[in-house]
Amino acid sequence: MNYISTEVIEEQKIKITNYLNNIGIDTIRKEIIRGLTSKQKYISSKFFYDEKGSKLFEEITRLPEYYPTRTEKHILKGIAPELMGRFYETDIVELGSGDCSKINILLDSAPKDNLTSINYVPMDVSSSAILKSAENLTKLFPELTINGLVADFIDQLNIIPDNRKRMFCLLGSTIGNFDENIVNRFLNNLRSSMNKGDTFLLGIDLVKPEPILHDAYNDKQGVTAKFNKNILNVINNLIDSNFNINDFEHKAFYDKYKSRIEMHLVANKNIIINSPYHNSDITILKGENVHTENSYKYYFERFNELEEVSGLKINKVFTDSNKWFALILFEK
Ligand code: SAH
Ligand code: AVI
Repeated sequence: MNYISTEVIEEQKIKITNYLNNIGIDTIRKEIIRGLTSKQKYISSKFFYDEKGSKLFEEITRLPEYYPTRTEKHILKGIAPELMGRFYETDIVELGSGDCSKINILLDSAPKDNLTSINYVPMDVSSSAILKSAENLTKLFPELTINGLVADFIDQLNIIPDNRKRMFCLLGSTIGNFDENIVNRFLNNLRSSMNKGDTFLLGIDLVKPEPILHDAYNDKQGVTAKFNKNILNVINNLIDSNFNINDFEHKAFYDKYKSRIEMHLVANKNIIINSPYHNSDITILKGENVHTENSYKYYFERFNELEEVSGLKINKVFTDSNKWFALILFEK
């Protein structure tokens, strides 16, 4: 995550461009202060992903309790040959690409001749994740062209190259981290940037028994707790504040009425936070929650709503035998 400097890294087959500075650090600081001074204090979950946060998320994906990653990968393995057979001279645009470990599965199934004609476009707010994964991917697939975009996929879809057929992907149930109004804005923006014939592969976590959901966000090793607390270090870097992660406890629970996991940080004492970018102290009382993430779980019935809101057509839905996770293939 780098909202200040503009980086352009260009090697033979890799180009990475940072567009986050177009948003402007002032806008980001205002957004953070607005959250911390609201009645229910909150921090947007997109701030989890500095270098350490991205690494902690990768650790989460390997935890026995965190079923979404392995379930989605299992579905992807099954559908990859069918999906990749049809792509030639295509850009694969992966939004919120993270460690790019899922795209490996698709690329593994691409006919060798097709690989040279594919341009992979990972787009993520985490510059470290894009950089690291681009380096790994070129080792595995030297013929692949990579055009990485460090940017926010909710509002910056207009920077995506638009001169070839494209398959957009949003995997890992990242869509679950957004409230309905943001999902609607994102899907609208996506429809406008897609051309006829472009496709969109969306990974979505499904509603399932509560203990399974609860454990996935309350792992025994405490990695999710570390991931949750690290957001305070990211905020300290962005607004020069004085959060101390030891003053907070991790809290995650499933709200079945809203069908979402909520993550919070709960103050274990009275705390005064200050920042040169805000003209008064921010008081957090012992026991007060700072809301850091929602992770919505979907019912199949909501898929039709997504179709309506996006104006895209569902071509196919893929799921696992437990119906724990789904991949929806949309087309325009
Ligand atoms: N797709 C990967 C990573 C999921 S983690 C997987 O399935 O494992 C979510 C990723 O989305 C993180 O890498 C985070 O940096 C990125 N992200 C979250 N909000 C974003 C936004 N608004 N714009 C761009 N990237 C975002
Ligand atoms: C990226 N996102 C879909 C993850 C999720 O499950 O909501 C982030 C995460 N939060 C806690 N654990 C994992």
